Amino acid sequence: MTLLKEPDFGTPERPGPATVSVEVDGMPVTVPEGTSVMRAAALAGIDIPKLCATDSLEPFGSCRLCVVEIDGRRGTPASCTTPVAAGMSVRTQTPKVEKLRQGVMELYISDHPLDCLTCPANGDCELQDMAGVVGLRQVRYGYEGENHLDAEKDTSNPYFDFDASKCIACSRCVRACGEVQGTFALTIEGRGFDSKVSAGAGETFMESECVSCGACVQACPTSTLQEKSVVELGMPTRSVITTCAYCGVGCSFKAELRGDELVRMVPHKDGGANEGHSCVKGRFAFGYASHPDRMLKPMVREKITDPWREVEWDEAIGTVARRMRELQQQYGSGAIGAITSSRCTNEEVYVVQKMVRAAFGNNNVDTCARVCHSPTGYGLKQTFGESAGTQDFRSVAEADVIMVIGANPTDGHPVFASRMKRRLREGAKLIVVDPRRIDLVRSPHVQAEHHLQLRPSTNVAVVNAMAHVVVTEGLVDRAFVDERCEDFDGWEEFIARPENSPEATEELTGVPAEELRAAARLYAQAPNGAIYYGLGVTEHSQGSTMVMGMANLAMACGNIGRDGVGVNPLRGQNNVQGSCDMGSFPHELPGYRHVSDDAVRTVFENLWGGTILAEPGLRIPNMFDAAIDGTFRGLFVHGEDIAQSDPNLKHVTAALEAMELVVVQDLFLNETAKFAHVFLPGASFLEKDGTFTNAERRINRVRAVMKPKTGKHEWQIVSEIATAMGHPMSYGHPSEIMDEIAQVTPTFTGVSFQLLDKLGSVQWPCNEEAPEGTPIMHVDEFVRGKGRFVVTTFVPTAERSTRRFPLILTTGRILSQYNVGAQTRRTGNVAWHPEDVLELHPHDAEVRGIVDGDMVTLASRVGETRLKAEISDRMPPGVVYTTFHHPVTGANVVTTENSDWATNCPEYKVTAVQVGLARPRRDDGAENDRGRERDELLTVVD
Ligand code: SF4
Ligand code: SF4
Ligand code: SF4
Ligand code: FES
Repeated sequence: MTLLKEPDFGTPERPGPATVSVEVDGMPVTVPEGTSVMRAAALAGIDIPKLCATDSLEPFGSCRLCVVEIDGRRGTPASCTTPVAAGMSVRTQTPKVEKLRQGVMELYISDHPLDCLTCPANGDCELQDMAGVVGLRQVRYGYEGENHLDAEKDTSNPYFDFDASKCIACSRCVRACGEVQGTFALTIEGRGFDSKVSAGAGETFMESECVSCGACVQACPTSTLQEKSVVELGMPTRSVITTCAYCGVGCSFKAELRGDELVRMVPHKDGGANEGHSCVKGRFAFGYASHPDRMLKPMVREKITDPWREVEWDEAIGTVARRMRELQQQYGSGAIGAITSSRCTNEEVYVVQKMVRAAFGNNNVDTCARVCHSPTGYGLKQTFGESAGTQDFRSVAEADVIMVIGANPTDGHPVFASRMKRRLREGAKLIVVDPRRIDLVRSPHVQAEHHLQLRPSTNVAVVNAMAHVVVTEGLVDRAFVDERCEDFDGWEEFIARPENSPEATEELTGVPAEELRAAARLYAQAPNGAIYYGLGVTEHSQGSTMVMGMANLAMACGNIGRDGVGVNPLRGQNNVQGSCDMGSFPHELPGYRHVSDDAVRTVFENLWGGTILAEPGLRIPNMFDAAIDGTFRGLFVHGEDIAQSDPNLKHVTAALEAMELVVVQDLFLNETAKFAHVFLPGASFLEKDGTFTNAERRINRVRAVMKPKTGKHEWQIVSEIATAMGHPMSYGHPSEIMDEIAQVTPTFTGVSFQLLDKLGSVQWPCNEEAPEGTPIMHVDEFVRGKGRFVVTTFVPTAERSTRRFPLILTTGRILSQYNVGAQTRRTGNVAWHPEDVLELHPHDAEVRGIVDGDMVTLASRVGETRLKAEISDRMPPGVVYTTFHHPVTGANVVTTENSDWATNCPEYKVTAVQVGLARPRRDDGAENDRGRERDELLTVVD
């Protein structure tokens, strides 16, 4: 594909039917009410010159380049700010407007460096284009007078420069930062000639509130805001549309290349999930794909203490197949298994689980979703009948009350957060349920109505108390419940019990009863109430109960089955939804069908040959336990770093050490690879062809922009291992794998690369009734028929704070880093988060003698680690918080083996810990002088 330039209609689309007919230069066009003259003209095929307008932003009317004449009206109105009126006749090219436009351009150019030929934006500059379009032939004003040509350049951001000498003060960047991103980091300072873009008084972009989403760079019509990669490598020449491989939002991007070199990632306007917006990770943090740390050759070794030996693919694949077979002969067919990856494509995940079921001959396959959203799958299936979120992202624009529970969208799901913030600025009300004061609680133009700052582990008590208010205050949507749900009466009796009241639970949860009552009323009485939640819900010993509790609450209030409502998991990794859909769990075949279902097994057995076991296989924690017991001997780990991301790392590493064969497929020699006997280098998303499924069930195409640097596709490698183990698996292209998925998975009926290429993306369920997919689920009836109320008794976690471990640790993600950081740590994003820190309330810090920046120890009953303290009142006293992006911190050294009762999802969000000032390490005594001083003092006192 050549470089894809998307059309720009100048101003945003207006909703509603096309009812207003006008003529532009004699061309008839009919558009919705409120459409600008500029957009109507563009729809009629007539581009009016413009500089301050672009269709991702509301019109501003500052440049005056878009003036037109309208019959019967005086003057020359700006077409971007003038709405159409029925019967209007517009003339876009008259001597009068042409002269005006030339005058405007002359002024701009007289204060602009004339270095077009050497400018990085040469060929992609709207100012340059407009000079041509308006027919500028002379600039009568010289450079002798005052100008901005010496204005200072800000190069502080790792990814883009700000060259103020090229700025035309059109304010597109300022508006993009506010309207699209919702950060409001930029302003126009000064007036008239002195007006200039500012990131805050005297601040550089890096010092400002800027979160490097790139929206301003995207909006800038000149080279003032310009990607550093374009400055270094030159303008790209071709585009490939693909999908971000970072988070579950699933943003579409145009990968723009020059030859074989990726120059930049530009958010795709037609992307269903992002509609032209991006965050710092997808937009800029792709450098890891060409990082020198990448491993490109397969390697093997006998023992994990041996050095690695590079081998050819045949030998590596043969070794895996032979040793896996040997382990099965020696220890039984259930002695081996695999972990699939939520970072890989659906097609890759499908072949890994197929390899396990068809070639390994067991169901010992699990996925990293086990440790994040498995309770979502369980809880939503039990109540609604389908293991997925109910809405598309667009739906949030119709919500009147948004309840965010245990999620931090501005950091974890930034592009969706921008959509949400836009709706909040329009007037929707916000309830945040979280122990931590996340940014959404108070950010520019957004203020939560209620922040229920509950104690970690008390989610279920809070959601039950909210439902108690709904039931006892007569706020139940009886018509919805009667018609659409079942098992309500038993649940109603349970939830109305006094022990579930806000007053009874106040002491336990820490949430004032009156505040909780007010929040419950707000949600229940809203015309449309929507719930969005994250790992702060699922990663608990009662994760599944909480998911069902939210589903109960939504059903009781009738908040299911239309735009603006729903229960929506915000998925962590790019393809968590997909990896679950593809049959990665040990008890489910693709499409969430239980392995004990004879009819379902028969479908797969007929297609694959052989017999599929009717018994579920081992879950990840069971694999570890069995490894330590000596019954599980071989593991294929596909694209996950379990030795960093799983809880209770001592236990995990002991299990890995105990195994006779660990095979790791990854981009880098990660922590898990330290325990591996075979390393198979993986391909980055830029080298992959396939699909990812995002949090809204949207199946997005991933398209290769280059060949795999390793020489082999991951689906090929897995197929060849299965073949070498005696189960022939052969595909010519990943589209054939998708064809097979569609053949055996009812929710994917009709999905093919062809369909996806035609429609852009499809939200499953896709079937004969919905051949183009299903944006909103459970519209007329629930997938399981009736929505089912489930009694959600609150059972406190076994993890308690004690005298020895008096604080509760909870964990999360920050914007610039991703998961265990394997990718983002190898990009410029380290500029924002060079290490994990421990957030600690000032009170907890003071009583421990800790000040900001001290190295501290963080200890739980299972392990201890050290990291820097950051004093912050975002957490309530008694609760500390950290991220786990850096292996050196090993935050999961301290997390315990507690897990969700239904799914074994680890309880990452609740660990009893103690924090203390760190003593200096023996080998690094200078690390914490305050610790050493205190030690010396204590020695003297002793
Ligand atoms: S990069 Fe994003 S956050 Fe930063 S100034 Fe630009 S629009 Fe605002
Ligand atoms: S930086 Fe770009 S978008 Fe912002 S005001 Fe200047 S020219 Fe316009
Ligand atoms: S929001 Fe998620 S999918 Fe979108 S660009 Fe950022 S990391 Fe990628
Ligand atoms: S484009 Fe209309 S005033 Fe600038």
